[in-house]
Amino acid sequence: MFPEQRPRRLRKNTAMRRLVRETSLSADNLIYPLFVREGKSVREPVAAMPGIERYSPDTLGPVVKRVASLGIPAVLLFGIPQKKDEFGTAAHKADGVVQQAVRRIKDACPDLLVITDLCLCEYTSHGHCGILTPEGEVENDETLEVLAKVALSHAKAGADIIAPSDMMDGRVGFIREALDEGGHELLPIMSYSAKYASAFYGPFREAAGSKPAFGDRKSYQMDPANIREAIREVALDVEEGADIIMVKPALPYLDVIRAVSDEFDEPLAAYQVSGEYSMIRAAGANGWLDEKACMLESVTAIRRAGADMIITYFAPEVVESLG
Ligand code: PBG
Repeated sequence: MFPEQRPRRLRKNTAMRRLVRETSLSADNLIYPLFVREGKSVREPVAAMPGIERYSPDTLGPVVKRVASLGIPAVLLFGIPQKKDEFGTAAHKADGVVQQAVRRIKDACPDLLVITDLCLCEYTSHGHCGILTPEGEVENDETLEVLAKVALSHAKAGADIIAPSDMMDGRVGFIREALDEGGHELLPIMSYSAKYASAFYGPFREAAGSKPAFGDRKSYQMDPANIREAIREVALDVEEGADIIMVKPALPYLDVIRAVSDEFDEPLAAYQVSGEYSMIRAAGANGWLDEKACMLESVTAIRRAGADMIITYFAPEVVESLG
């Protein structure tokens, strides 16, 4: 054999390829997002995300039991309230939809970690992630006060990790202080640190009914053209006390995941967002792509780039296809 054929010796068969594989993928690395909506006995499919449903809190039992039995350690909750207002009041009600869902899940599966997404966009009538000024600008500091209330209400309901996705400045430190003062010193914060103003969130906004009524999120989410800014954003969150950091979306931002994982020691999450999921689903449904192979390839690539954990709507299917 010629020396230049050496790489092929290690690709001869499955066992050999497994032996030299550099990136591992297991249930341990996955987080499954769930949409919970107010109501009773409701399970409704999300049209733009085939395979994904919205659940009322009382219907969550079977789905979380399935997730837990597959060995997936955590779910991430997004709430869809019945009533929205300008201030996102429904987000911090003691019996709000997320608060109810947390209790239900903890009852059904005490060991499954419940991460709660912390943002106002699903709760505000205008669909922005914060409180607005009369001119329609997001009021950073007033929003922080509301976010702290929401975080405390999630903590009281029994959430295991709080995940602020609003992108207000200074929110991690502010929420940390509020949690500490409320006696929740050991409740970790998973911060959406480098969150881009991405068109790949389209299907999510349909699922959560959180499309902004006017304008966009470019004043508080990051410009897709920037990577150095991502490092600065993560550094701020770490300084303010983030326990887990995040890059979002994932596949179009693998370079950002790599840069952040090289630069920081904190556990790093990457979010394979709704649009990344729906693209693969849609192409699969059309027979244009091998859905399962693309799913595994994309999740493996996100791990290879440096993500310790991946938030993905594919989580249960990934575990099932790992066998
Ligand atoms: C809330 C939030 C969004 C996503 C997660 N948290 C939407 C947005 O910023 O518009 C998107 C997740 C996805 O697309 O799967 N701010």
